[in-house]
Amino acid sequence: MQALTFITMGSKPEASKEIRDALVGNARARLLADCDDPDQLLADVLRLRPSAVIIILELENLEKEFVLIKQLAATCPETAIISAARDASPALILGSMRSGAREFIQLPIIADEFRTVIDRVVEFCAGVENSSRKNGRVIAVFSGKGGAGVSFFGTNLAAAMGVSTLLIDLNLQAGDAAFFLGLDTKYSLTDFVNNRARLDDSLMTSLVTTHSANLAVLAAPLEAHEAEDIKPQDVVEILHLLGQRYECIVLDLPHTFDPVTVAALDLADEILVVLTLDIPGIRSTKRALKVFDRLDYQRRKVHVVVNRWSKNIDVQLQKVEMHLGEQLIGFVPNDYRKVMDSINLGRPLVQADPSSKITAEIKRIAALVGGNGHPTSALPRKKLLGGMFNRQRPTAGLELSEMPDPA
Ligand SMILES: Nc1ncnc2c1ncn2[C@@H]1O[C@H](COP(=O)(O)OP(=O)(O)O)[C@@H](O)[C@H]1O
Ligand SMILES: [Mg+2]
Repeated sequence: MQALTFITMGSKPEASKEIRDALVGNARARLLADCDDPDQLLADVLRLRPSAVIIILELENLEKEFVLIKQLAATCPETAIISAARDASPALILGSMRSGAREFIQLPIIADEFRTVIDRVVEFCAGVENSSRKNGRVIAVFSGKGGAGVSFFGTNLAAAMGVSTLLIDLNLQAGDAAFFLGLDTKYSLTDFVNNRARLDDSLMTSLVTTHSANLAVLAAPLEAHEAEDIKPQDVVEILHLLGQRYECIVLDLPHTFDPVTVAALDLADEILVVLTLDIPGIRSTKRALKVFDRLDYQRRKVHVVVNRWSKNIDVQLQKVEMHLGEQLIGFVPNDYRKVMDSINLGRPLVQADPSSKITAEIKRIAALVGGNGHPTSALPRKKLLGGMFNRQRPTAGLELSEMPDPA
């Protein structure tokens, strides 16, 4: 399940704060925007397509608010409308339900009731997803530690998807994904955000940079200071807009849990965590998995991929899996020379060297996450024994022999 996104509207600060606090206190909920004006609400809902809106009704404005609910229900049927009020009469509740609200929240909030409302929104969203899902698959590539190979793996994964794919570089301060693909980009996320009001098909096409038949890139801001201009809501909007145009979107993410990265992770269908098999790598992966648990991501959307894999790494993989509580779904071999050549020449290895072992493994992972099945259920478990770091026994190759040979 993805996190639920909310926009709230209310003109009384205390009531708005109460709703905000309740949302912030719920691990599944993300507040995208908070407004006090119906026009702003409509514009925000159209732009951000939240899972739900919460409208705090004011007795003196009821008729107008019912009209607003009707309007929202007609224009954004995929968003659940929830009304809330302090002095609720049966007529008020009935009126809001008849206008199109699905739930009602009585203020002050009772924690149990609020949880029930959130559960109902989850059910509603599951129904919407089953009936009308047209958006491309969003695959986020992440690592808790810099240098693990997120950009290398992410760019090659995007190039290996075999369907129309957009790579979005969300390393806002120092993105290099376009460089990895040998592209000199003129436009970036900044232009996308700055031209939000007039984005149409042709403008969107001109702001992404085409790499090859099935691959385009939306580059990170060209200047580091422009990173500040990009907000989590922008990422939500961009993913909604571009998700309708590509079968797959691959996100090259930074190594932090800043709000923009979390917004992107929230919307991802699959998260691939890139792990290098050293102690800092394993620790940072464990930390990241704990954050995903706190963000209430279902573990089935999270997959761990080993990068820079070598038979000579003296690690007991089963112990790593047990420690992380996650199966390792891929092993991208270590090949410094090939990888450096590919990066320096700006030619993704999966295209430049189709017969390499790195290519074979990345294509296999692309097929796993690009399909409809869940990667982990498609993989046989590997039989591995012993302690995690087997420094005493240089025979780990025996247990690791089922892994792809490093090039
Ligand atoms: N499979 C690999 N084999 C050898 N070296 C690799 C591999 N993957 C990445 N590297 C090296 O690691 C460096 C960092 O990779 P990069 O993708 O920029 O990491 P990140 O985006 O996680 O910071 C690359 O410059 C490359 O030299
Ligand atoms: Mg990177």
